[in-house]
Amino acid sequence: MSTAYAPGKSILFGEHAVVYGRPAIAVPIRQVRAQATVQAGKTGKGVFLSAPNMNWECYLTESPKGHPLRAIVMNTLSYLRVSAEPDIIVRVDSTIPIACGLGSGTAVSVAIVRALAEYFGIQLPREAVSELAFEVEKIHHGTPSGIDNTVIAYERPVYFVKGQTPVILIPARSFQLIVADTGVCSPTRAVVADVRSKWECDPRQYSSLFDEIGEVSWAARQSIESGRTNDLGPLMNRNQELLRAVGVSSPELERLIEAALQAGASGAKLSGAGRGGNMIALVTEETAPRVEKALRASGAAHVIVTEVASGTTDIHSADGT
Ligand code: PMV
Repeated sequence: MSTAYAPGKSILFGEHAVVYGRPAIAVPIRQVRAQATVQAGKTGKGVFLSAPNMNWECYLTESPKGHPLRAIVMNTLSYLRVSAEPDIIVRVDSTIPIACGLGSGTAVSVAIVRALAEYFGIQLPREAVSELAFEVEKIHHGTPSGIDNTVIAYERPVYFVKGQTPVILIPARSFQLIVADTGVCSPTRAVVADVRSKWECDPRQYSSLFDEIGEVSWAARQSIESGRTNDLGPLMNRNQELLRAVGVSSPELERLIEAALQAGASGAKLSGAGRGGNMIALVTEETAPRVEKALRASGAAHVIVTEVASGTTDIHSADGT
């Protein structure tokens, strides 16, 4: 039997603009995670898929074509060159809330790839894990930038530009974030498609907004790498102004952002596709409890307090250590 994990994620800077080739920054969120277990089957009927969280159970051969779980298992078995369909049970569990910008679908894919590779005794590089998850991202999101699969497969803060090798960020100083969920489910595919049609109607206006967002991501990278974490708050606020102009904020997001800022966060913005899902706020040891309380009082559905640690530590996701 093999078990593997993958964390959630949050986009700190650059969402949407990243789809158009501008840089973005994302970090893993380890307080939530997906888990995949692979074990020998007993029926001789091939791969049995079980995802109790999603109320989903069936044999691979009977699963609907185009289903993300079917796709990730089939693509991974083919990548691992497992020729005849093996008699195994693949079970997925996850504590990551679905469709709110924490990367739930991607984390499930990454955990499955890792568990299958380990079960068949093959070590896969992170690039390969990320690439396999990216193929399935296309089913979830249509035209994904690739940032979600990258940050989840690498499990490190990343500075990401579509089509380029990701840069692993090594923060010179730790900083604390609060991630809060509006409780409004917002499918990324629809928001990304809407932004695309607006960009097609007014390419000049939108390209210039994306350029400015890219500059914010670049400045944030410098701040993270040089330990000037105080600069991150104003950069988050600037990024949020630009996301408003792109048209992806919402009253629920604005309410939580305002509550966080009023309670002492030095910056706050939506995170992910927007129109719902999550927001993030930059806090300190001192402000975190107040901001967390204010977010809950303003109706946040889930609140996660997390730290982006300085330096680098090695992660072993296959055994969860
Ligand atoms: O909704 P999420 O957290 O999966 O983030 C989507 C981020 C976008 O930039 C809007 C799309 C993408 O593919 O990068």
